[in-house]
Amino acid sequence: MRYKILTPEEAAALIEHDECVGMSGFAHAGALKKIPAAIAAKAKAEHEAGRPYKIKLMTGASTTDLVDKLLSEAEAVSLRMPYQSCPVTRKAIDKGDIAYNDMHLSFMMRAMRHGHIPRVKTAIVEVSEVTDEGELTFTVGMGNSPAFCMLADRIILELNTYHKPELKDIHDIYISHDESGRCLVPLYHEDDRIGTRVLKVDPEKIVGIVPTHSPDGFAAFKEGTPETDRIGRNVVRFLEEEYRMGRIPEGFLPIQSGVGNVANSVLAALGDSDIIPPVRMYGEVIQDSVVKLMQRGRCSFASGCSLLLSDEMLEEVYQNFDFYRDKFLLRPAEISNNTSVIRRLGVVCMNTAIEADLFGNINSTHFYGSRIMNGIGGSGDFARCSVLTIFTCPSVTKRGAISSIVPMVSHTDHTEHDVDVIVTEQGVADLRGKSPRERAEIVIDHCAHPDYRPLLRRYLALTPIGHTPHSLTKAFAFQTAFLETGDMRNVDLG
Ligand code: COA
Repeated sequence: MRYKILTPEEAAALIEHDECVGMSGFAHAGALKKIPAAIAAKAKAEHEAGRPYKIKLMTGASTTDLVDKLLSEAEAVSLRMPYQSCPVTRKAIDKGDIAYNDMHLSFMMRAMRHGHIPRVKTAIVEVSEVTDEGELTFTVGMGNSPAFCMLADRIILELNTYHKPELKDIHDIYISHDESGRCLVPLYHEDDRIGTRVLKVDPEKIVGIVPTHSPDGFAAFKEGTPETDRIGRNVVRFLEEEYRMGRIPEGFLPIQSGVGNVANSVLAALGDSDIIPPVRMYGEVIQDSVVKLMQRGRCSFASGCSLLLSDEMLEEVYQNFDFYRDKFLLRPAEISNNTSVIRRLGVVCMNTAIEADLFGNINSTHFYGSRIMNGIGGSGDFARCSVLTIFTCPSVTKRGAISSIVPMVSHTDHTEHDVDVIVTEQGVADLRGKSPRERAEIVIDHCAHPDYRPLLRRYLALTPIGHTPHSLTKAFAFQTAFLETGDMRNVDLG
């Protein structure tokens, strides 16, 4: 091996104050295991010595406690992009200690190549294999790792021998060398292979390797609740009807499904459908529920940029790799979330909302207009470009004190122009071809919780004229009522 073996501390010593660092990781998958802790320790030591030390942290998406939590606790991050889901990081963002640029995942590397955002100086990425010729085999999280390695001046590897080098058989690394972004990405079917199994970099750029041997430590999502299961069944009943009516073609359409418990319930319900044929996925995160569908013969293929499996499920995949080898492809996030590919393939996308309003606008990222939850992630890449865009959420949360259906969302991530269908456990609001007033009626009747339907109707009645009937003084009265009294049902509509 031509490369130098480093300790995590030696690797951290190379990272300077204010440096822009691109780390692997797309959710837990492929997140670094050791070097971030050493960077956090270095930051603490520098701060104690009275010197400034913060890095600009770029990743594929969210990471783990070993990355975001440790670095945020050590006050070692000045800028964070493009997505996070860590409670400690959220607090620092809300306080203004970390500048967070929450952006569409597919846009980040283009923005970096064009010089619109800082360029990574060091890429620190997890690999399962590296050759003397500089061929890298990534692990289960592809995300932005290939692009970081191409753009960075130097590369530090965490060589994680827990992961199998055979993973290269499910990797498809395509990087457009046309920086203008004008070239067509030649991907016409979910399972098209358009790139390489490994990324070839200049071996001189690899300044060191930190050995690790560790699973991602991802626990399986909780089982669905009766409420998420009802949401799942409502989504599937809607899709079955679309299929029966011929609005979805014979072989069905590729599916993108967000991450989390609602998404798992939707996929479980899809598996139980005797009308919808086995599905094919074109999304970003591939979860346990997708593997379960494969085991039941209900999913024949999944393309993504992250194999976000529980440790037990990943073990099952490794044990039976021959069965799964041709059923997955992991691509760079620029390709899994590429908006022209999503449009070309005709994806049906299903993501989760925090709030939806009567007219179809969606808030996926903020509480009460100000406080960050996670970020937009890839939901905007898919929402704008899919052939059918579905958002799901429970009709109420916090034991009914918050209605997820409000007159006006307190933060807008997806506008009414991108949203086709809203689904709660109450039912389905099909907004296609409807005016704002018609939308509002359907959303109230089909999606709002019965406790809130009369209140939402009273809100609509406040403004008898206007294409989109808003009351500027009462548009946020529901959210304000929660903040002031702890229950939106106390809303004062005058
Ligand atoms: N106001 C205040 N709090 C709310 C709320 C609202 N309108 N809606 C939900 N919450 C709270 C819940 O009560 C819960 O609180 P708790 O943790 O104290 O119980 C918390 O928010 C999480 O809600 P939950 O329903 O469990 O969320 P989830 O795990 O289904 O995630 C999103 C929902 C929207 C946060 C998540 O899907 C997300 O980050 N989406 C954006 C990115 C994305 O779509 N990625 C998909 C890949 S393309």
